[in-house]
This record gives sequence, C-alpha cells and structure tokens, in this order.
Amino acid sequence: MVGMNVAQAAESLPLAAPSDHQTGVDLIARGKYLAIAADCAACHTNPESKDLFAGGYAIHSPMGIIYSTNITPSTKFGIGNYSEAQFSKAVRDGIRADGDHLYPAMPYPSYAGLTDADINALYAYFMHGVKPVDVKPQQTALSFPFNLRFSMAGWNLLFLHNRPFKPEDDQDATWNRGKYLVDTVAHCSECHTPRNALMALQGGKALYSGTLLGSWHAPNLTSDPVSGLGSWSDKDLAQYLQTGHVNGKAQAAGPMAEAVTNSLQYLHDDDIKAIITYLRTLPAVRDPSQTHHAASFGTDTNQASDHVNNTDTAVRGTQPIAKFFAADASGQTIYDAACSSCHQPDGKGTQDGFYPSLSHNTTLGGDSPNNLVSAILFGVQRTVGDKSVLMPAFGPYSDVQALSDKQVATLSNYLFKQYGNPELSVTEEEVTAIRQGGPTPLIAKIAEPASIAGGVVVVVLLILLAVWRVRRKRR
Ligand code: HEC
Ligand code: HEC
Ligand code: HEC
Repeated sequence: MVGMNVAQAAESLPLAAPSDHQTGVDLIARGKYLAIAADCAACHTNPESKDLFAGGYAIHSPMGIIYSTNITPSTKFGIGNYSEAQFSKAVRDGIRADGDHLYPAMPYPSYAGLTDADINALYAYFMHGVKPVDVKPQQTALSFPFNLRFSMAGWNLLFLHNRPFKPEDDQDATWNRGKYLVDTVAHCSECHTPRNALMALQGGKALYSGTLLGSWHAPNLTSDPVSGLGSWSDKDLAQYLQTGHVNGKAQAAGPMAEAVTNSLQYLHDDDIKAIITYLRTLPAVRDPSQTHHAASFGTDTNQASDHVNNTDTAVRGTQPIAKFFAADASGQTIYDAACSSCHQPDGKGTQDGFYPSLSHNTTLGGDSPNNLVSAILFGVQRTVGDKSVLMPAFGPYSDVQALSDKQVATLSNYLFKQYGNPELSVTEEEVTAIRQGGPTPLIAKIAEPASIAGGVVVVVLLILLAVWRVRRKRR
C-alpha cells in the first residue's frame, strides 16, 4: 500500500491541536501517518486494481457484499467535492455528503473518537496528498431489508457513542495516546470485541475479550494472564505488532497479517509503546474454560520422532498431495505429506523460527479452533519491510495442494492433541462453515432468506430499540 515514508511524517501521533506555524506540508504528512495508522487503504484500495483509495473492494458482510467507495479527491467519482465538514460527518458520524447513512462496514463507530485536529489533517492529506483516480467503483446493492439505509439511523442512535476523544486527567500522556490509538485510530476493537445480535460492538466486560471474525478468531487482548496478553512481555508485544512474528508464541495471519502489513509496521516506536501501555490496563477477562495460556501448550522434547517422513521431497508440492494418502488417512499421515517439509517432522519448525513451531503457538492452544483451520485453508501472507512470509493455502479444491474439509478436520484434531490444547476439536461441518466465511450472526439469520417477514422483523426491531433508547435517555 501507501509505502509510508516514516521520516516524512510527524514525530508522533498528534493529540494536540496543530500549532500556528505548522506548514501545509507538515499537516499533509500528519494526515498521511494517521491514514496509515487508521488503515484507510485496507478497505478503500481494491487489491486487484491497486489504485490507492479508489474503492471497489468487496467486503463480505453477513448482510451481503458492501463495496468500499472511491475516497480519492476525484470530483467525479471520489470525495473531491467534499467540504471538511462533510468529510468529518462521513468519517465520524457515518453520514455521506448526500445525507444517506453509511453501513458500519466503514468503522465510523470507532473513528467517531477522532479529534477535530486529526480530521483536519486527514482532510488535508486526502485533498492534497492523494492522487485523484477517476474510476467509478462497483455500487453496493444489499437485499431487503438491509438496503434501507435509513434503518442505520436507528442503529446509530443505539450504538454510536459519538464524541471525539478527550484525554483522561488521571492518566499520563503515553496511556492517553495509547487509548486513542487502540480505541479510535487503529480501531482494534472492530475486530477484537464481540458484537451483539445487531452487529454492534459490545461494551463493558466484553471489550477486547476476543471474538470470531468471519473465518478467523481475534483473540482476547485484555490483561488476563491466561486468556489475554498478561503473560506477554512488552518486547514480545512490540515485536508482534511490528512484525507479526514472535518465536514460541504467535504469528499473525488473516486480518491481523493485513493490519501489520498495511498499518502497524509503520507506527513509530513511541506509538507502539503507547499502545502496549494502554493494553496493559484493559480489565482482565477470563474465559472460564481456559486454565493455561494459549502459548503454554506443547512439549519441548522431540515427542513426535516416530514420524515417518515417507514422502519423497522431490515430488512433494508438485503433485496433488491427496495422492500420498487414502481419503480416510490419519492426521499424522496428512501432516507428514502436507506440512512436515516446512514445520519439520517433529512439528518444531526450523531453528531460526522462520517456519514456526506448532508447539507453544497461540493458534493451537487458545479457546478456538478457527485460526488453525483458517491458516490451513487460506494460508499465511504477510510483508514487513522488504521481507515476505508465505504459507501456501490448502483450501482451494482446484489447487494441487487442496485438502478436503474432512481431511482438514482430521489434521486439525491430530495437531490439537499433539501440539496444542487437547480440549480443542473441530468437526468436518465446522470446517465447511469456516471455509465459507464463518457462522452467520442472528441479524442476518432473521432476514434470511431475504424474506419480507424477516425484513420487517429486523426493521421493526431496530425502530423499537431506537424508541426505547430515546425514552430511556429522556428519563
Ligand atoms: C474496515 C473497512 C474500512 C476502513 C478501515 C475505512 N473505510 Fe471508509 N468506507 C468503507 C466502506 C465499506 C464505505 C462505504 C459504506 C457504504 O456504502 O455504506 C466507506 C465509506 C467512506 C466514505 C464515504 C464516501 C462516499 O462515497 O461518500 C468516506 C469519506 C470514507 N469511507 C473515508 C475513510 C477514511 C478517511 C478512512 C480512514 C481514516 C476509512 N474510510 C477507513 C470501509 C472502510
Ligand atoms: C482487521 C481485524 C483486526 C484488527 C484491526 C486488529 N486485529 Fe489483532 N488480530 C486479529 C486476528 C484475526 C488475530 C489472530 C491472528 C492469528 O492468530 O493468525 C489477531 C491477533 C492479535 C494478537 C495476537 C494474540 C494471540 O493471542 O495470538 C495481538 C496481540 C493483537 N491481535 C493485537 C491487536 C492490536 C493491539 C490491534 C490494534 C492496534 C489489533 N490487533 C487490530 C484481527 C485484528
Ligand atoms: C511451504 C512451507 C509451509 C508448509 C508446507 C506449511 N506451512 Fe505452515 N507456515 C509456513 C510459514 C512461512 C508460516 C508463517 C510464519 C510467520 O508467520 O512468520 C506458517 C505458519 C503456520 C501456522 C501459524 C499460523 C497463525 O495464524 O499463527 C500454523 C498453525 C501452520 N503454519 C500450520 C501448518 C499446517 C497444519 C500445514 C500443513 C497443512 C502447514 N502449516 C504447511 C510455512 C509452511
């Protein structure tokens, strides 16, 4: 993406108002740094066309496909005619220039916390630092009832806690900057906080307690030593956020790999430190089913030395791996054929950790089987600096490396027992659901199949909730 020149940007993320002597160039550089920290490009750049911020990226929501819009300063197809006030309204309130409501696929509920000064910098960057691209992106056309954008007004009334961030007096500047970055700019909550039946982020105790995210699982980020990040050192956390890889602990795949690749690796050390300072103070949330931290599972001895690495290295990867074993092959047979060339026959990975160990890996030891299954189905891709890591995807049926849902389940269950949390397991049906993008939330289920009755229920529900909320506020 943006290929941000860090030296060009401001020293650190600004919380203060721009000073009088701040030049236009400074302001644009600050806006650019913010746009990177907020990862605007993740959604507004279509990876296929690669036109920066020209939109058209398909976001598969449970309600249907939502296409991001062109936010280059193109006056025809982008936001070139937006005033700063209109820009602010779109980014913080979810209302675009023509008055229609945006879907919260645009994370305005998090960006609502952006300060006026930072909106000003972002606006300067998008108007003067971004190349206009005259391309009309694909338009969003959700089916009833989700095509009724005005129903978002009810949703906003309920869930949009719309106020720019204000530093808390009893905390220091580092903590406050961390809170601002985590809650607002880098919108960590959008992925790491569970949603309610109406798809809004939950508050209170649920905050940052971890949740399913389509096919993936975004882990608990609270300070709990067992379920959260309490047992991670500052060094490990910084390394994870800046590179996505910590030996003997975790690697970032899926949406987290995207966040590292596009955004987090470019944050200044001070800002990473601020993020960690704030994360340390998130109230601990423990999943009662967990008794050991996710990275504590697995042995350090060569427990699986009886593995027969019986496939010829020369042919591995060049022919359908299914050839190497019968349809009902055991997990170990599949592992030996499909995984051991990189993760080694004993599952310990390589000495340098480039191919990670499957023991002491949060992917296999946590409270959800999703990230192991998703890593197998969709692979791992991440680029940090000029270094890329790539684990091939074993999901696509057409690929030489395709594994069936049954084989993925068998393999995963074997790996949980061998290297991870032996309590974890996954069924073939669950693998099928993960392959298709994860379980559907209630709101989409009610309206499915786009039946009039279901639609009416959802809209009436939203309106009732809105009325109830307004009443409660008045009291
Ligand atoms: C997680 C995905 C995502 C991220 C991150 C994101 N956006 Fe969006 N944005 C969207 C989607 C999707 C829409 C269109 C929603 C709709 O059609 O209701 C949108 C719409 C908009 C609009 C309204 C444009 C119009 O056509 O009127 C603006 C302005 C905007 N985004 C700016 C930004 C900025 C600035 C950032 C970074 C600070 C950002 N977005 C980050 C997904 C995202
Ligand atoms: C777009 C969604 C998304 C965003 C935004 C996001 N994360 Fe994540 N995060 C994930 C997912 C999914 C994983 C699991 C990745 C894996 O194991 O391969 C993850 C993993 C992590 C982990 C590793 C936890 C473990 O137990 O292995 C940490 C730490 C983390 N995220 C912190 C953050 C912080 C801090 C932010 C904001 C600065 C953030 N994340 C923003 C989706 C996201
Ligand atoms: C061609 C080499 C290669 C093969 C074959 C391979 N992997 Fe990987 N694997 C990698 C690389 C590279 C990474 C990412 C390391 C990083 O993130 O720094 C990885 C990461 C992982 C992770 C951590 C993902 C996460 O979200 O944290 C798991 C689990 C994993 N592999 C399991 C498997 C399994 C199971 C198989 C067999 C189906 C397999 N791998 C086959 C190279 C490979």
